[in-house]
Amino acid sequence: MPRPRTIKPFIPLRISGVGAYLPPKLLTNDDLAQFLDTSDEWIRTRTGIRTRHILSPEEVPAEMGIRAAEKALAMAKRNPADIEFLLVATNMPEEPIPGTAPYIAQGLGLEKTPFADITAGCAGFVYALALAGALIQTGVVGKALVIGTEALSRFVNWQDRATCVLFGDGAGAVVVEAAPGPAGILGVALRGDATKLDLLRIEAGGVRLPASAETVRTGKHFLQMEGKGLFRAAVRMMAEATRAAAVQAGLRLTDIDWVIPHQANLRIIEALVKRLRLPPEKVVVNIDRVANTSTASIPIALEELVRDGKVESGQILALTAFGAGACYGTVILRW
Ligand code: UT7
Repeated sequence: MPRPRTIKPFIPLRISGVGAYLPPKLLTNDDLAQFLDTSDEWIRTRTGIRTRHILSPEEVPAEMGIRAAEKALAMAKRNPADIEFLLVATNMPEEPIPGTAPYIAQGLGLEKTPFADITAGCAGFVYALALAGALIQTGVVGKALVIGTEALSRFVNWQDRATCVLFGDGAGAVVVEAAPGPAGILGVALRGDATKLDLLRIEAGGVRLPASAETVRTGKHFLQMEGKGLFRAAVRMMAEATRAAAVQAGLRLTDIDWVIPHQANLRIIEALVKRLRLPPEKVVVNIDRVANTSTASIPIALEELVRDGKVESGQILALTAFGAGACYGTVILRW
């Protein structure tokens, strides 16, 4: 098998900037125990979560995305005008029409730039990055901005201890640029299993079941989740996609320097580590501080890794996620 550094990226590109934004309001497990039948001990031992950031009523997810994007652009030393495509991964749009991306485009001053929202559950950022890579590979665009922004705190039932303790709000962004050289995407595995559609849903508020007094009365506009089923599926899905992306890249799992998994539950991450026999020190974990931020989870964790100076040029990163749908996937890239 060739050495990792001699394998040519099948999509040569560079992540030239990374940024993240977390709303200032912090909610601890003890804060939750003030109004829910739960405890810090239960949440910590079952999920690994200690705190989460919550969007204030005056803020919106687009603002979080704009702030994360501004930081990514500053790191990349690029102006908004340099961006040729904006992709926003999110599950709950700013408004059903026109979504979130145009609000972010407006806020960044991207007046002529094409934009689109991508909905692929919590795997949305991985999907969006793969799609940005494909647009770059085919020469459609040279520079793209990929954002994950999410405020599921607005859609969880704060009376339902089985779901509301798990989620936090935030945004993360990357600037992706065509760049001939050794850096780029080495492997992509995107997968879907719509037989698992029922595991995570918000039933009301869409076309199938428009919002009404009845849907509000019955709480159908809240996130509903089948936790155990999702847990089992999550480990299998992220392991399968990571193995497949590594095979496509011509890599062994031991060649990967950093694995950034979607932060849904520390026990899910630990089970993935065990299943793939990964050294735990190579696996990025920040769920304790930020909880599950859905589409923002991977770019927020990536930003921390980069900010801490841990990622070196030439290192191999695997970004892996699963989520509603069920959509899942892994992107392997060389930094
Ligand atoms: O981005 C993807 C989204 N979500 C996920 O990936 C979630 C995946 N699933 C999970 O992370 C876990 O299944 C949960 C954390 C949601 C639940 O953990 P679990 O170990 O599967 O617990 P459980 O659902 O079996 O519940 C065990 C007990 C139950 O009580 P009984 O029936 O044993 O009396 C629950 O009612 O824990 C109870 N429980 C709680 N107790 C205190 C559930 N939530 C809480 C809570 N505090 N917050």
